[in-house]
Amino acid sequence: MPPRNPSAIGLDFGTTNSALALARDGESTLATFARGDGSRSSTYRSVLFFETPDVGPPPPAIAGPKALERYFDTGGSGRLLQSLKSFLASPLFTSTVVFGRAFTLEDLVAIVLTRLRREVEEQHGELSNSIVMGRPVRFVGDDGDGEEALPLKRLRKAAATAGFDDVRFEFEPVAAAHSYERTLDHDELVLVGDFGGGTSDFCLVRLGPTRRRDASAREKAILGTEGVGLAGDAFDGEIVRHAVAPALGAGGTYRSFMEKKEIAIPPWIYERLRRWHHVSFLKSSDTMKFLNELRSLALDRAKIEALLHLVEYDLGPQLFTVVEGTKVSLSRELEHALRYIDPPLELDRTCTRAEFEQWIAGQLGAIEGCIDRLLASTNVSPRDVDRVFLTGGSALVPSVRAVFERRFGADKLRGGDELTSVATGLALVAEER
Ligand SMILES: Nc1ncnc2c1ncn2[C@@H]1O[C@H](COP(=O)(O)OP(=O)(O)OP(=O)(O)O)[C@@H](O)[C@H]1O
Ligand SMILES: [Mg+2]
Repeated sequence: MPPRNPSAIGLDFGTTNSALALARDGESTLATFARGDGSRSSTYRSVLFFETPDVGPPPPAIAGPKALERYFDTGGSGRLLQSLKSFLASPLFTSTVVFGRAFTLEDLVAIVLTRLRREVEEQHGELSNSIVMGRPVRFVGDDGDGEEALPLKRLRKAAATAGFDDVRFEFEPVAAAHSYERTLDHDELVLVGDFGGGTSDFCLVRLGPTRRRDASAREKAILGTEGVGLAGDAFDGEIVRHAVAPALGAGGTYRSFMEKKEIAIPPWIYERLRRWHHVSFLKSSDTMKFLNELRSLALDRAKIEALLHLVEYDLGPQLFTVVEGTKVSLSRELEHALRYIDPPLELDRTCTRAEFEQWIAGQLGAIEGCIDRLLASTNVSPRDVDRVFLTGGSALVPSVRAVFERRFGADKLRGGDELTSVATGLALVAEER
């Protein structure tokens, strides 16, 4: 192994993608990770795959880019765990059993971080135990009562298991601001919006040479932060609700012999479908029994057959790959065919960008609410904002950008390094402190 690396470390454990950056002398460099095809990527998918064992105990979990590849290579034989960060604030999620072994949420996150660390160390030498780690302004599921002790405690524990026992947290949008600041040769008042998989986070901050030079300016640089626990995963959920669930019986009815009337198929089934990591929860014996009964009672049996097929074969990851692909295509194109054919499950529906924008109107409204609160609490008017820096994968959604164009004018918008600006900035923060 190469010698110990002296760099300051920034670690962004994202809902969808993680990244790690190393900073030295004001330069922040992203670590890269091997993909199955031999290429390298500066992002590391925050997923875990436990392959079904032939005999004996399960093989060790695979994390990162190779986990999804392996999942699809095996035809989906095993457990794929994703969006772990979205459970951190949930006291109800304590542990899950995978092939007979119980893992706490902290254990699962620790496996992702340990694997990630190992790959970085193979390239860059032994890392320090001291890091700055990103955190959203508001975690998914934190409804604003300030209940953030649990997710931070869990992140700290997982990081310690991965050998990072000295963790300081920084707000993810503040980290992204540091990444943007590298491009500045003058001072600016900047609104940063970071739209990820789980959360949308904001900060209003004075950036530039004065902040860098002057310790007292540094202390006062952040005027305010805001956040809401929804982003790309929630957009995917809206596509499922509007374009997928109706083909699986949502909104339909079944005949009740007991009450001799038609009854609506319970919507909670489809609520579960909207979060891809919740699809496997439908596979409980009670729900499967109910769905099997529904198959013979539903007025549109073919749709319930399709739903049963999805649940029985745990096709959540496959479904969401197609759904996410549709969303990403709609960032470039005006329409896209959402297609997944695995009889009796046959989804084939053209989705337009205009429809998608209507479907996510509620989420866009929540994002607008964050901007309003941030401007109000800091007593700043849109006119006073010099620049709007938008980052995170979901900042590529045109209607997300449009919210800021309307309020601040298109010429104030900047973007870039969508998947890595937080990690880059975290390492700079680590070096600055
Ligand atoms: N071109 C695109 N158009 C729309 N959405 C996209 C695009 N590219 C990526 N995304 C979405 O961006 C999200 C991932 O972004 P990112 O990696 O910034 O999130 P994260 O950092 O893992 O999450 P968080 O910050 O919430 O913890 C996913 O929901 C993904 O589907
Ligand atoms: Mg992020």
